Amino acid sequence: MSSTAGQVIKCRAAVAWEAGKPLVIEEVEVAPPQANEVRIKILFTSLCHTDVYFWEAKGQTPLFPRIFGHEAGGIVESVGEGVTELQPGDHVLPVFTGECKECRHCKSEESNMCDLLRINTDRGVMLNDGQTRFSKNGQPIYHFVGTSTFSEYTVVHVGCVAKINPAAPLDKVCILSCGICTGLGATINVAKPQKGSSIAIFGLGAVGLAAAEGARIAGAARIIGVDLNSSRFEEAKKFGVNEFVNPKDYDKPVQEVIAEMTNGGVDRSVECTGSIQAMISAFECVHDGWGVAVLVGVPNKDDAFKTHPANFLNERTLKGTFYGNYKPRSDLPAVVEKYMNKELELEKFITHSVSFSEINKAFEYMLQGKSIRCIIRME
Ligand SMILES: NC(=O)c1ccc[n+]([C@@H]2O[C@H](COP(=O)([O-])OP(=O)(O)OC[C@H]3O[C@@H](n4cnc5c(N)ncnc54)[C@H](O)[C@@H]3O)[C@@H](O)[C@H]2O)c1
Ligand SMILES: [Zn+2]
Ligand SMILES: [Zn+2]
Repeated sequence: MSSTAGQVIKCRAAVAWEAGKPLVIEEVEVAPPQANEVRIKILFTSLCHTDVYFWEAKGQTPLFPRIFGHEAGGIVESVGEGVTELQPGDHVLPVFTGECKECRHCKSEESNMCDLLRINTDRGVMLNDGQTRFSKNGQPIYHFVGTSTFSEYTVVHVGCVAKINPAAPLDKVCILSCGICTGLGATINVAKPQKGSSIAIFGLGAVGLAAAEGARIAGAARIIGVDLNSSRFEEAKKFGVNEFVNPKDYDKPVQEVIAEMTNGGVDRSVECTGSIQAMISAFECVHDGWGVAVLVGVPNKDDAFKTHPANFLNERTLKGTFYGNYKPRSDLPAVVEKYMNKELELEKFITHSVSFSEINKAFEYMLQGKSIRCIIRME
């Protein structure tokens, strides 16, 4: 038992008081974990686009004051009632979507969309009592996607906590909490390219580069990167992308360009842009007979996917995925092991590192398009 178990902890957290305004490092109070909750000491966290979208709150429900952050690594400080598989000292990754292990999704081999703990970006409170565990001078501070990792301590539902190998460096594996697993799993778990095959990756941001890393691991021979921004291409070479297409360089649809390059189409494609046009192109650029396209990007509210049904009759498959189809508690430990035995490379995703007090710099790097991942060191 730690000396702080059962007590309120005072610690530093980066609080977003208002949309789009720099975060402020404040001393906050973190209540003890309740039933089925875990309090975690965060050691490293990183910034993902989703934090930025909800901090900007353009088009999203604004909820402030709030503590953002959902990619992190830490150590369990204490556990609430009913938590049996975790104990103080365990090394863990909190994840924005959970696995209760009891619902029909958790029991299905095919799904990771837990009924109880599926991502909910509008909820700013804990499920147990509908309250927050963070406060400052009695004022509640809202949670974000059940993780709120921009705090030295946070409280998370046990179903959103993956216990990992304690030998794994948390300053590297913390990036597996969201974007990297999303892209990696989209390729490895869903697109499943065969050794020697061809694959097109649409969008070479963090998620697309992780999809490319999955293709490299799977042994795909031709990894074609597609992006409207050619400045992404140089970096993408490190991720095994070996051919590049900028749709702007052609006066015909990019799916036709890719079909010509590959004698009829790629074996697989993974869309990591959020652009509806790229989603349609990603589907229409796969080969008939066996081609599989996987959509990862989050579309706009009013988007509609339009393609000729003959594309399906010609035996192309369209799929989508959430968090790379990984179940956080069951599957993340093995992804960490892939990194430990040097199959998966994580260092190349980490372009920047700042101390916690400089957290706003991480936002600047991302907004300026300079960073893939920026690690924020809590100590
Ligand atoms: N499904 C999930 O579980 C999940 C999880 C995390 C992120 N995402 C989504 O994945 C997408 C990618 O995330 P990211 O952080 O890598 O984003 P990012 O903005 O860093 O990268 C997107 C890239 O796509 C390129 N792009 C945009 N439109 C394009 C087009 N029409 N054709 C080709 N390239 C185009 C951009 O130039 C950019 O380089 C986003 O939509 C994000 O919301 C999904
Ligand atoms: Zn479940
Ligand atoms: Zn994320």
